[in-house]
Amino acid sequence: MEVFKEAQLLRKRLTKHRNNGHSVGLVPTMGSLHKGHLQLIEKCLKQNKVTVCSIFVNPTQFSNPTDLKKYPQNIDKDLTLLELTGCDIVFNPDVKEMYPQPPVVQFDFGQLGNILEGKFRPGHFNGVGFIVSKLFNIVVPDRAYFGEKDLQQLAIIRRLVTDMNYNIEIVGIPTVREQNGLALSSRNKRLTDKEKIQSSIIYKSLKAGEVILRNQGSARDVCNAVAAVLKKATLLNPEYIECIDMDSFKILVKDDITENTAICTAVKIGKVRLIDNLIVRKLRPSRK
Ligand code: PAJ
Repeated sequence: MEVFKEAQLLRKRLTKHRNNGHSVGLVPTMGSLHKGHLQLIEKCLKQNKVTVCSIFVNPTQFSNPTDLKKYPQNIDKDLTLLELTGCDIVFNPDVKEMYPQPPVVQFDFGQLGNILEGKFRPGHFNGVGFIVSKLFNIVVPDRAYFGEKDLQQLAIIRRLVTDMNYNIEIVGIPTVREQNGLALSSRNKRLTDKEKIQSSIIYKSLKAGEVILRNQGSARDVCNAVAAVLKKATLLNPEYIECIDMDSFKILVKDDITENTAICTAVKIGKVRLIDNLIVRKLRPSRK
């Protein structure tokens, strides 16, 4: 496995691969890797000759400076895990390499970027769009891999690719969970044991919402059912609970349910903020 810190050297190496007709897959991460990340790497390994994983804690996507400061980092462990998984190339630049000067270009994803995460983390998707766009330009992958865990991020990246004509196939990977349902996240490391147990209620609340959805409940009924389950866990403070139409990525208000609906939530627990979602497909669209 080769590790690059400089974009220019990585570019040169990848040009060689491309000249040899090798396909290139990219898995962008912020490190502190867990089984969810490794699932993306494994899919990438299967579909491409060369797998590149980037590890970069991107400062411009953090609207909360404490979250950035406390973001878990463990590059040595990450490199060991990637080596064991069979990753070919790691790109681990420092902040100066990616941001030699403060960027002036801005990404505005309109309504797509203003709801859910965008509403609670102003500037977040500008930072994500900016760094992913830079990574696409440096690596020029054939495919790039993103988790459904960050469902709005996935929708934003797909839109970035369409709007900017990136010739890259975006592959979405289902959320990997603990046995108790808690979605794997680097931020889980910051939870106490008690908080961890209560956090597993988040998935249970989404499953309760799914039952309502499958029984032709309205978006409002679904959100109420999720909220009722979350309320039972005293340490959990939900920031939002919304149903989303998967095709338009618009919030479903009150009564409409579309064929493919995702239930999305963000929950604060102590000083940690967790997001999760459940995609429910092939529903009979209803209008009550
Ligand atoms: P990070 O949070 O490190 O996540 C890297 C990728 O792993 C993302 O595509 C994310 O959706 C996916 N992922 C995280 N947890 C997962 C899980 N439990 N199951 C499946 N996939 C999971 O997302 C980012 O980094 C950054 O915003 C980034 C795209 C790298 C831009 O800086």
